[in-house]
Amino acid sequence: METPASAAVAPAAVIVLAAGAGTRMKSRTPKVLHPIGGRSLLGHAITAAEGTGPADLVVVVRHEREKLIQHLTEHASEVTVADQDEIPGTGRAVQCGLEKVSATSGTVLVTYGDVPLLEAETLRELVVVHEQAGAAATVLSARVADPTGYGRILRSQDGSEVLGIVEEKDATEDQRAIDEINSGIYAFDLEVLRDALGRIGTDNAQGEMYLTDVLGIARSDGRTVRALVTDDAMMVEGANDRVQLAQLGAEMNRRILERHMRAGVTIVDPATTWIDADVSIGTDATILPGVQLHGATDIGEDAVIGPDCTLRDTEVGARAEVVRTHSVLAVIGDEATVGPFTYLRPGTSLGRGGKIGGFVETKNAQIGDGAKVPHLSYVGDAEIGEGTNIGAATIFANYDGQNKHRTTIGKHVRVGSDSVLVAPVTIGDGAATGAGTVVRKDVPPGALAVNAVGQRNVEGWTLRRRAGTAAEDAARAALEGRPENGATPTAGPDADDNKEHQQR
Ligand code: UD1
Ligand code: CA
Repeated sequence: METPASAAVAPAAVIVLAAGAGTRMKSRTPKVLHPIGGRSLLGHAITAAEGTGPADLVVVVRHEREKLIQHLTEHASEVTVADQDEIPGTGRAVQCGLEKVSATSGTVLVTYGDVPLLEAETLRELVVVHEQAGAAATVLSARVADPTGYGRILRSQDGSEVLGIVEEKDATEDQRAIDEINSGIYAFDLEVLRDALGRIGTDNAQGEMYLTDVLGIARSDGRTVRALVTDDAMMVEGANDRVQLAQLGAEMNRRILERHMRAGVTIVDPATTWIDADVSIGTDATILPGVQLHGATDIGEDAVIGPDCTLRDTEVGARAEVVRTHSVLAVIGDEATVGPFTYLRPGTSLGRGGKIGGFVETKNAQIGDGAKVPHLSYVGDAEIGEGTNIGAATIFANYDGQNKHRTTIGKHVRVGSDSVLVAPVTIGDGAATGAGTVVRKDVPPGALAVNAVGQRNVEGWTLRRRAGTAAEDAARAALEGRPENGATPTAGPDADDNKEHQQR
């Protein structure tokens, strides 16, 4: 059938069912709040529903109601919540949902909160097929190898018409042999749905109001009932336990990676790459093995990420390179380089062409264009101007035990290796610090700050204090100008050494 998505008309409502218990998850977290691909199962269901542009989007809740409502308030504040009462079954759930639907006619879609791979495009196609046929109900069905547990689609002798749906627990042996299953996703004519739900009972094996009975009722009333058969059975699968959750998570990841690769992203090893649904990646970016991109991470064009990076809510600029890095809520500029073995914490921003190198941790630090923190440093609560270089093993001492303070460093500053910058402190443009400087006072522009203690050499210390060691042997040989490891006499501690010891 011709079903151009452009012909789709927005439905009057989508009702997402999420009132069930989901006990097989064996979790304190409600089933539909378990995440895959960086979103809850319910979040995926809502995203698909939103993609059809419904006038009303209703989520039906009951089990763990408070937790679901809190989640919806945080992540999907535009949805309407409907409460299911004590009458069980999918039919009752939809009936409760309909109470929140303002329209009086049109198409209503029903979906489940625990079916995460379903996409808006399929729902739009369902609306088109349903409306073009002038149907009262259209069920999304699938043919599967093992139909156990699902409702079966009953068709007329020649197979052209849908007569109804029978639940497995109510089915005859012949009916159980049917391999076309009910996905639980439907398009309904709103008026037919309201009317039929008012006529269904609970006289079945489970004592529930079955939504599936609506199809048989509509058919008996002489209305058209259709099925749209999908060849993508996984797309309509629900997650009932953690084994299925992992399977659907892996499948979602596979689909996300495929989408990026088809859009021009190189993913060297899909088997070790995990990318959340909301991540965006520019053309010709390369993702090396062992990379996880989470949340709202955004990778620029031609950037190279990996191997072995975990980036969450991180923005990476065009042509930047990020190697073996763990990053949360950071911004990495165009052409900048980060890693290996680097930890970027929230509030880090690195300017264009800047560098944060190996064994560096940063937090709430704005590092300017072309500025570099190449080795072994902690940079917290700081601003570093453009073109500045932070020497190896520099520590920004931002915490005095009670409060955090900021360090401000100007442009083109040279901070010497092993400096400790005791915040709050400011180093002016073009200034420098000597190696090992503890900076406690502001440094004016262009000044050199030094305060390392003057060096004192205690002559012969090793000979006295490390007697009998290889160090003593080496020192003695050097002092006596002869090859090492001769039969040298071993010096015991002398009076001078004992005196020094007592002074400690
Ligand atoms: C239902 C269908 C079955 C279909 C299967 C697909 C009925 C009677 N049967 O079976 O034909 O093959 O889905 O998975 O509809 N829910 C509520 N309130 C309730 C009961 C369920 O909101 O009182 C919600 C659940 O949270 C879940 C969905 O409806 O999201 C399906 O519930 P579930 O119990 O899994 O449906 P089944 O009886 O297995
Ligand atoms: Ca089910």
